[in-house]
Amino acid sequence: MQQITIRRPDDWHLHLRDGAMLRAVLPETARDFARAIIMPNLVPPVVTLADTVGYRDRILAALPKGAVFEPLMTLYLTEDTDPADVAAAAASGVVKAVKLYPAGATTNSHGGVRDLTRVLPVLEKMAEVGLPLCVHGEVTTPEVDIFDREAVFIDTVLDPLRRRLPGLRVVMEHITTEEGVAYASSAGPTLGATITTHHLILNRNHILAGGIRPHYYCLPVAKREKHRLALRAAATSGNPQFFLGTDSAPHTDALKEQACGCAGCFTATNTMPLLAHVFEEDGALDRLEAFTSLNGPAFYRLPVNQTTLRLVKHATPPPFPDKIVTEAGPVTVFNPGFPVHWRVEA
Ligand code: NCD
Ligand code: ZN
Repeated sequence: MQQITIRRPDDWHLHLRDGAMLRAVLPETARDFARAIIMPNLVPPVVTLADTVGYRDRILAALPKGAVFEPLMTLYLTEDTDPADVAAAAASGVVKAVKLYPAGATTNSHGGVRDLTRVLPVLEKMAEVGLPLCVHGEVTTPEVDIFDREAVFIDTVLDPLRRRLPGLRVVMEHITTEEGVAYASSAGPTLGATITTHHLILNRNHILAGGIRPHYYCLPVAKREKHRLALRAAATSGNPQFFLGTDSAPHTDALKEQACGCAGCFTATNTMPLLAHVFEEDGALDRLEAFTSLNGPAFYRLPVNQTTLRLVKHATPPPFPDKIVTEAGPVTVFNPGFPVHWRVEA
């Protein structure tokens, strides 16, 4: 029997939603993860420190009895965000980052930023107080092909921004391209990058060849195989700039399986077994802990977790649920399409 024990992981990019959905999906993350960076793209978005404190309280109230889980909150950056509120948010200790959504880039991003020059005073304040900026790195220009939007964003938005504000710490969220890997690798310690579980597993053929698979559709959309391989190499490299952000993003099956389906893969339930599979396949099980439990805290300047998580490899793949039940309807759990022999055990 093969097994591995690592420091308890953290998820540096997670969608928990609110209300009934929050209550249904939170236990799936809290079972394996000690902390998570909580995305603020609710309807309406979590914009101010006061909004964030309220949302954090609702998350803590939704935790199963006995669960030990710390939500690390983020503010949704808008063109009306007040630098003083951001400074207060950083000082409060509740808020660990600010999230930049280019307006229209993804789910509930219409209130995001159209013109970066309008948020420069906020970004300058963040650089001053040491609060990181988490970036959804895709341009929204309709003329730019959806498979090129990340690479174009790096050249036309991210790099100029970082040159203008070299003191600002930035996380490239859910990178999906070899250009993203190369840019992060060439930057210094002020730049981190999260990688999702599903982007280590999927390329665009998985979504589109032989039928359209809505549960593999997320944003940024999975790219060619060479990009998946670049992400695998980065995640398993041990390079401290790369860490796990699952981007687990629940939508009900009804919203995924329709003429215009929502973007998001729900991976909270089985991320750790999937990652053990991926890292074992690449001969890098000894670097799983760096990716899931060490590199993220180092970037965010937080202590590593003191508790541990044990993964055991079974001869027969242990089953995982197809769906989780929510009051709004079923949510499909990410199915990688191959047997997974690993399971988290007490
Ligand atoms: C996310 C969501 O549903 O909130 N969807 C996704 O495909 N990743 C938003 C996001 O992170 O882009
Ligand atoms: Zn996301």
